[in-house]
Amino acid sequence: MQYGFFDDDAREYVITRPDTPYPWINYLGCEEFFGLFSNTSGGYCFCRDARMLRLTRYRYNNVPADAGGRYFYLRDGTDVWTPSWMPMKSKLDRYECRHGMGYSKISSSRNGLAFTQVSFVPLGDNCEIHKVTLTNESGAEKNIDMFSFVEFCLWNANDDMTNFQRNFSIGEVEIESQLAGSSRIYHKTEYRERRNHYAVWSVNAATAGFDTDRQAFLGLYNGFDSPQTPFNGKANNSVASGWAPIGSHHIKVKLAPNESKTFVFTLGFCENPQDQKWEKPGIINKAPANKLLEKYNTAEAADKALAELNAYWKNLLGKFTVDASSLSRPDDIKMARMAGVWNQYQCMVTFNMSRSASYFESGIGRGMGFRDSNQDLLGFVHLVPERARSRILDIAATQFPDGSAYHQYQPLTKRGNNEVGSGFNDDPLWLICGVAAYIKETGDYSILNEKVPFDNDEKLADTLFIHLKRSFDFTVTHKGPHGLPLIGRADWNDCLNLNCFSAAPGESFQTTANFESGVAESVLIAAIFAFVGPDYVEICKRANRADEAAYAEKEIKTMTDAINQHGWDGDWFVRAYDAYGKKIGGKECDDGKIFIESNGFAVMAGIGVDDGRAAKALDSVKEHLDSKYGIVLLQPAYKNYHLELGEVSSYPPGYKENAGIFCHNNPWVTIAETMLGRGTRAFETYAKICPAYREDDSDLRRLEPYVYAQMVAGKDAPRHGEAKNSWLTGTAAWTFVSISQYILGVRPVFDGLLIDPCIPSAMKGFTVTRHFRGADYHITVDNSAGAEKGIKSITIDGKAQEGNVLPIFNDGKIHKIMVIMG
Ligand code: GLC
Ligand code: GLC
Repeated sequence: MQYGFFDDDAREYVITRPDTPYPWINYLGCEEFFGLFSNTSGGYCFCRDARMLRLTRYRYNNVPADAGGRYFYLRDGTDVWTPSWMPMKSKLDRYECRHGMGYSKISSSRNGLAFTQVSFVPLGDNCEIHKVTLTNESGAEKNIDMFSFVEFCLWNANDDMTNFQRNFSIGEVEIESQLAGSSRIYHKTEYRERRNHYAVWSVNAATAGFDTDRQAFLGLYNGFDSPQTPFNGKANNSVASGWAPIGSHHIKVKLAPNESKTFVFTLGFCENPQDQKWEKPGIINKAPANKLLEKYNTAEAADKALAELNAYWKNLLGKFTVDASSLSRPDDIKMARMAGVWNQYQCMVTFNMSRSASYFESGIGRGMGFRDSNQDLLGFVHLVPERARSRILDIAATQFPDGSAYHQYQPLTKRGNNEVGSGFNDDPLWLICGVAAYIKETGDYSILNEKVPFDNDEKLADTLFIHLKRSFDFTVTHKGPHGLPLIGRADWNDCLNLNCFSAAPGESFQTTANFESGVAESVLIAAIFAFVGPDYVEICKRANRADEAAYAEKEIKTMTDAINQHGWDGDWFVRAYDAYGKKIGGKECDDGKIFIESNGFAVMAGIGVDDGRAAKALDSVKEHLDSKYGIVLLQPAYKNYHLELGEVSSYPPGYKENAGIFCHNNPWVTIAETMLGRGTRAFETYAKICPAYREDDSDLRRLEPYVYAQMVAGKDAPRHGEAKNSWLTGTAAWTFVSISQYILGVRPVFDGLLIDPCIPSAMKGFTVTRHFRGADYHITVDNSAGAEKGIKSITIDGKAQEGNVLPIFNDGKIHKIMVIMG
């Protein structure tokens, strides 16, 4: 069953009933301030860092689900309800939630009172705006009481949910309830000591009262679903002192029939310089709040800010579009709306969040992953190349002088995270992958000459080029008995912990190594090396390092030979060798005979393409790993825990890395299929994990049909087809690469824009526009020939073109490209 539909013109997903199988969320914010926003107004917000600067409280894994949000309680006579459905699960006569690009809009009605809430984070300011409109659709005058509600988090989200002996005594607020046309609640916990920031929750209206103490508002033993104050119809003017500070305004709204009134609620983060913290003793300096709130004190001002946000997204998403009307098969609209809109939108969210805050990541755990951030870049470098550039420099600055890397770094400090440490031996190579993507997109070789610290130590700084060399060399110098790269703690598959040997319950697989074998090897790292190596060679050549290029070519050849000799199992590629030198992902294994990753990546690297092994490997993947909902990670699933394999065997069969459909690596197979020209199969693997294709299957899939999830339960799991961990996953970047660059085949290369579609023969053509290095390429592909790959002719602005690499125009113009397949 469906819970909504795509409104393609508006670039919105419209949720038509509130009881979605899981909260379906959106992200507000694209700079420093972010909000997670569910279809029933649940979620929370933070500034810059979801752990350290959290404004509002959220209870993960709570019952009922999705506890915490920006709530509005409405009271009409004795009738009290929440117009966003939650938290009261109110019966509504009408309900709709539209998640759009950086904003969400909830509209509902009950007994003749219509409600709309438009929520977004404006560009340039650190706040959420919630524009609320009440409309009297009944024939009689209405006297409504509206109560807003947010619950403040005491900034450090981890402390906030653990350190109660302290927390219950530190909460402080200030209130300005008598201002003309504005009512403001300030959350200033810890401002008296070392913080120089506070939060403000305001409305641009006079109020009848307020509450800032949670218990006063809710009443004893009540939840958000049955707060006492709205039922009483009167605020308590409570002033929080310790315990749980909240912000609630009580507004009386008189509405004649057909009359509407609009209120702008703002939830802002304000900072003061250290020497200007106080207005007078004990009273915070409100200058930054005044400035912020004056800016958004009318509905028109809020509308203007939303229009600016819309323009921002329109411009961004204009860089790569798919024209749905040009598609020949009705279902291709699903691909168009994902590739043209939602997939890119999700890539921007992974850029902003990395893996920190979603409804599956609590915002207090992981920093920015070295490998994750480099891969995420593949999905947004065409949208925000300048920001990708500084991201690369940040990531590279956490690399160690020997080329290895901290597995994670913290976004606020931009320093490597010691708790997680290092030793994931694939990490270094992803830097080459990210930098190559950046250069292909922009042609900006100057980045190679940037001086970048190692381990954040300026004294160790060297050029980015040298960082790449160290990445490359790290792999070359860390090989095992078969000449394949040592795996270290793990490779891309965090759960393949071949040196861990962990027997202690609860011990972290990621940080323990109880047995440094110096033997366990990864065929995947070898394949990644063979895939990114040629880009490194090209970069060397263009940086006038012919010697280095020659050396790199030689090393790639040596690595490829090692894969051919020790990485091929007869029908597919081996996955790894364990600490005893035994195969993982080989026919002789009882479980884990075949894995997806090494097969996808080896073929992506072109290995076995000429001699039929690549086709054989992909056929084996199809035969053993494919399922209705995507390709599972391995087969057979591990039934027992294996000391020598680690976390991969810790999951029940069919979940996560133990034979789940780990969507991140499905596009590797898609890309691999295009290397063989198998367009129909490539598209099939693409569509299987693409959420828009499962919209009508939402009861099983459960998660948002407009974004990818990290994992879908595999065929061994009782809940095969159920998705988990939506939004923050490398799936976003890789699926975008697979569809835009390899299926539709519009791929930036060092010297231009390569056109090389590989599509199902039944797809008779398509049109995409691509902004690339200062010009717009309007590309129409005609496949009336019914080919899967291959180009008969290309014309540019009517003139025949030799070869399939379009030149760099950089002239600010639109160029019409006509491509005939066949
Ligand atoms: C998670 C991690 C990623 C890893 C993957 C497979 O998505 O963020 O770094 O590659 O799991 O284990
Ligand atoms: C677990 C997860 C994996 C994730 C890793 C790092 O191993 O299975 O997906 O990458 O934790 O947080």
